[in-house]
Amino acid sequence: MNLSDRPRRLRGDGVRGLVSETSLSASDLIAPVFVDATTDSRVPIQSMPGHERVPIDEAVARVEEVLETGVEAVMLFGIPEEKDERGSRAWAASGVVQEATRRITEQTDAYVITDVCLCEYTDHGHCGVLEEHAQAEPDLTVDNDETLPLLGNIAVSHARAGADMVAPSGMMDGMVASIREALDEDGHENVPIMSYAAKFESAFYGPFRDAADGAPAFGNRRHYQMDPANRREAMREVQLDVEQGADVLMVKPALPYLDIVADVRREFDHPVAAYNVSGEYAMLHAAAEKGWLDLDAVAHESLLSIKRAGADLILTYFAEDIAETL
Ligand code: PBG
Repeated sequence: MNLSDRPRRLRGDGVRGLVSETSLSASDLIAPVFVDATTDSRVPIQSMPGHERVPIDEAVARVEEVLETGVEAVMLFGIPEEKDERGSRAWAASGVVQEATRRITEQTDAYVITDVCLCEYTDHGHCGVLEEHAQAEPDLTVDNDETLPLLGNIAVSHARAGADMVAPSGMMDGMVASIREALDEDGHENVPIMSYAAKFESAFYGPFRDAADGAPAFGNRRHYQMDPANRREAMREVQLDVEQGADVLMVKPALPYLDIVADVRREFDHPVAAYNVSGEYAMLHAAAEKGWLDLDAVAHESLLSIKRAGADLILTYFAEDIAETL
């Protein structure tokens, strides 16, 4: 046996740091924040321990808490005061995200990214306007092309309110091009788009649907979100978003899709984001609560692994907790 090559030589405490290939820092992390127009006080989210929906009046205070941990960016999600068939509160100048964005960008230094989607705003919970007969025909859900101009309206309303970046999450074909064009026409050519470029139809979104009240009232999202079975198709999806002008490419969820993160890293030079989603957060918390896992350790290892796979930035509900330990 030839033992001249002994990798253990570089595992001593003095040298490990020098040869470490991946590092995690607070500036890589984006903290999701939920602003709720239907409440006057903070409401804990049961399935996501430590997270709450905050009223508009507390949006600035909530973001200041994030900034204190060293995390510099937030992703805003809104729960509107009312929902309708087309989700019209999503692009209202007085809407919940628009109002929160104005206050946060005026009063803090946070980098504000907004989720551009309709599912929290439509009374049926789908990510766009419905096709005719959608409720009766299992193969029909969202009308892609009717939805595109609405996504443009939402993005423009966010940019007017001061959003630093917009993040379309609805998986409509052509959404990045429509949003880019709408933003440019309104004078926001410097607002970047972080596209949820490869977003899978995942059961790991369960807790988020409680948090943002956006579960579909009928059917599911498999006609617009990607089939978890498909790896090559993800490259095609990402390529299309690149051609349409996406600035940052996101893969979602993160941990069960690290092969996709690695593929996007290898194939494209754009910054790659990964969304460590609500279910990934909830399962670690649930196991830790039972005493089966050490929460800080598994959270840190999860985020490090997402970076190692190739992500530059990570959206995660662990952002604040982990930033504080770094
Ligand atoms: C809305 C949206 C969802 C998430 C982010 N934006 C829900 C969904 O697509 O069903 C999920 C985030 C999470 O689970 O943490 N389109």
